[in-house]
Amino acid sequence: MSKQNETLKTITVAGLLCFVCSILVSVVVVTLRPQQAKNAELDMKKNILMSAGMIKDGDDIEAVFATVETMIVNIETGKKVEMDAKRYDQVAAIKDPAMNVKIPADKDVGGLSARSKYAKVYLKRDSAGAIETIILNVWGKGLWSTMYGFIALGPDTKTIKGFAYYSQGETPGLGGEVDNPNWKSQWVGKNLYDTDFNVAFAVNKGAVDKNHQLANYRVDGLSGATITGNGVTSSMKYWFGEHGYSKFLANVRAGEI
Ligand SMILES: Cc1cc2nc3c(=O)[nH]c(=O)nc-3n(C[C@H](O)[C@H](O)[C@H](O)COP(=O)(O)O)c2cc1C
Repeated sequence: MSKQNETLKTITVAGLLCFVCSILVSVVVVTLRPQQAKNAELDMKKNILMSAGMIKDGDDIEAVFATVETMIVNIETGKKVEMDAKRYDQVAAIKDPAMNVKIPADKDVGGLSARSKYAKVYLKRDSAGAIETIILNVWGKGLWSTMYGFIALGPDTKTIKGFAYYSQGETPGLGGEVDNPNWKSQWVGKNLYDTDFNVAFAVNKGAVDKNHQLANYRVDGLSGATITGNGVTSSMKYWFGEHGYSKFLANVRAGEI
């Protein structure tokens, strides 16, 4: 075989191999896409339930999540809206001018710029239909990242039942300690609002003095990570203030939800 023919053969084989491989990769990507979406959805359900301490390792996430009601709420009015929760993508809504709300600078304590008009909220009711737990999505800026989490409240709408971030990019060992189970466990039983329903919760500077009059509204500061801690405090101030969930929670207290 001439040298020219050999080169042509090599190029043809290499080209065919590339073509077959690219088809294989495309098929794998397309077939796995629904499974990936399903896994992401399951992971989110797990995050929601974990924040409220409703599951432990090994529990059937789908079965427990089926006991939770997902509701879409107009944040401004605090009222339920009839929308298909399964089809509502709140993350996409934040960036969609038709579905978002610009946050006025004087109210933007969490530095979010915009939020979605509607929020997904999760409710666990007892057998008589009374609300036992309210789980709400909260997010805000840390030092390096936007930190996304869920907070679970009791029926009085101010006692914290649990809290967890499910996505954050702070420095491991410093701001990343927001994921430390010991730190998160301090949130349980603390109060978000004071008796007049002003947001009183904050991450302390340093350890909380148990005898301090505000101890019930404070968790320990994160050492070497004051900026991240301040970001957590600001997120709570925003989300539970008048531009956040305060009207919805007032409606819960009034028995309208
Ligand atoms: C490499 C590096 C990573 C840091 N990561 C964080 C962080 O994730 N969160 C944070 O609040 N501060 C972080 N800091 C420290 C901040 O720059 C700042 O000094 C600190 O928040 C002040 O907190 P302190 O008063 O508790 O020391 C980091 C600093 C360095 C040098």
